[in-house]
Amino acid sequence: MRTSTALEALSRRPLSFLRSSWPWRSLAYLLSSVVPGSAVVVAAGLISSLALVPVMVVAGLAAVAVLVPLVVRFERWRLRLVDLAPLSAARSEPSRTVVLGLVSLLALWWIDLVVACFTVAGPAVLILSPVVQPMDGEWAPAAALIGSVAGVLLVPVAAYVFTAWAGARAAVTRALLAPTELADVLRSRVRLVNAFETERRRIERDLHDGAQQRLVALSMRLGLARLDLPPDSPAARQLVQAHEEAKQALVELRELIRGVHPQVLTDRGLGAAVRDAAGRSPIPVDVDVRLPRRLPDAVETTAYYVVAESLANVAKHSRARRARIRARLAGDVLVVEVWDDGVGGADPAGGTGMVGLADRVAAVGGRLSLSSPARGPTTMSVEIPCA
Ligand SMILES: Nc1ncnc2c1ncn2[C@@H]1O[C@H](COP(=O)(O)OP(=O)(O)OP(=O)(O)O)[C@@H](O)[C@H]1O
Ligand SMILES: [Mg+2]
Repeated sequence: MRTSTALEALSRRPLSFLRSSWPWRSLAYLLSSVVPGSAVVVAAGLISSLALVPVMVVAGLAAVAVLVPLVVRFERWRLRLVDLAPLSAARSEPSRTVVLGLVSLLALWWIDLVVACFTVAGPAVLILSPVVQPMDGEWAPAAALIGSVAGVLLVPVAAYVFTAWAGARAAVTRALLAPTELADVLRSRVRLVNAFETERRRIERDLHDGAQQRLVALSMRLGLARLDLPPDSPAARQLVQAHEEAKQALVELRELIRGVHPQVLTDRGLGAAVRDAAGRSPIPVDVDVRLPRRLPDAVETTAYYVVAESLANVAKHSRARRARIRARLAGDVLVVEVWDDGVGGADPAGGTGMVGLADRVAAVGGRLSLSSPARGPTTMSVEIPCA
C-alpha cells in the first residue's frame, strides 16, 4: 500500500523507512515551526515594550486574534509535508479551528523545535566530538571513535523519534481541521444500502423491459385506432386524448428510468452527468470537473447522487446566489465538492437526503463531510476510493 502519512511510514521496514523521504519531510515539518515561533516572539517582544498593563492585555488579545487565523492557514498548508491525503476544502467548526490556532501558538511550535533540535543535535554532537571536544591522553582517539560511532548509531533512532512526533502532531492537526464526517456514524447501514442498490437496479430493468415496452405498444395501437375513426366524432376526440396521455406517460416513464439511473452517466461518464445536472439547476452553477479517465461504475453513480442531492438541497434550502462543483482525482481517490454561498446551517437530522447520501457513500468505502456554519457558506464534500 502507498504510504500517505508520516505515521504510516513508521510501519515500513527500517531500511525502507530510513531511505525514504519521510524522515526529511518530518524534519522539515517540525523546523517550519520557526515561522509561527518567530511571529509569537516578535509579538511578545512588541507587547512587553508597552508601558501600561491594560494596554498590554488589549494588545495581547489583538495579537492572538490576528495570529490565530494566520497560523491555522499555515498549519493547513504545511500538513501536506507529512500527510499526503487531500484535506477537504470544507472547513471544520470554527471552535475546533480556534483550538488548533491557540495550541499551535502557545505550545506546539516550541515543542516541535525542541524535539527537532534535541534529536538532531544529540547525534551530531557525538559524531563531531573529536572536533568539538578534543581530549588528551592515551585513550583519547579510542574514546573519540566510540563517541562518533555511537552518534552514527543514534541517527536512525533520532529519525524515528522526530518522525513519530511529526506524525502524531499532523494527526491532531488533521482531526481539528477536518469537517464533521457524516459517514462514520452510519457504517452499520452499509449492507442495507447494498441490498437497496440491487433492488433499485432490478426495478430499473423491469421498468425498462416491461412497462415501457407495453406503453409503446399501447401508444402505437391508439395511434392506429385514430386513423380508423372519422376525425370529428366524439369517440375520435376521446381517442386523441387517450393517445396524448399514453405518449405523456411514456415520456414520464422514460424520465423516471433516467432518474433512477441517468443514461448520460452510463454513456458519457461523471463529468457529462454533472454538467447535465448543473444545467438543470435554477441557481447558476460553476462546474469544474477534471477527471483523466472513467471511474468504476459504483464510484461514478455514488458521486453523481451526491451532486444531484446537493444541488437539490441548494435549490430548496440555501437561498444561494451561486454554487460550484469541483471534482478531481487525487491519486486513487475521487474528491467531489459542492459549494454554495447561501444561508448555511444545514443539518442532516432535518431530513432524509443527507443521511441517505452518507449511507451510499459508506457503502463504497468513502467519506462524506459537511461544513455549513450559520450564514454559510455550505460545502458538501465526498472522497471515494477508486482502487
Ligand atoms: N445547501 C444547504 N443550505 C442550507 N441548508 C441546507 C442545505 N442543504 C440542506 N440544508 C438543511 O438541512 C436539512 C437536511 O437536508 P436533507 O437533504 O437531509 O433533507 P431535505 O432536503 O429537507 O429533505 P429530503 O429528504 O427530501 O432530501 C434541510 O431540511 C435544510 O434545512
Ligand atoms: Mg435534501
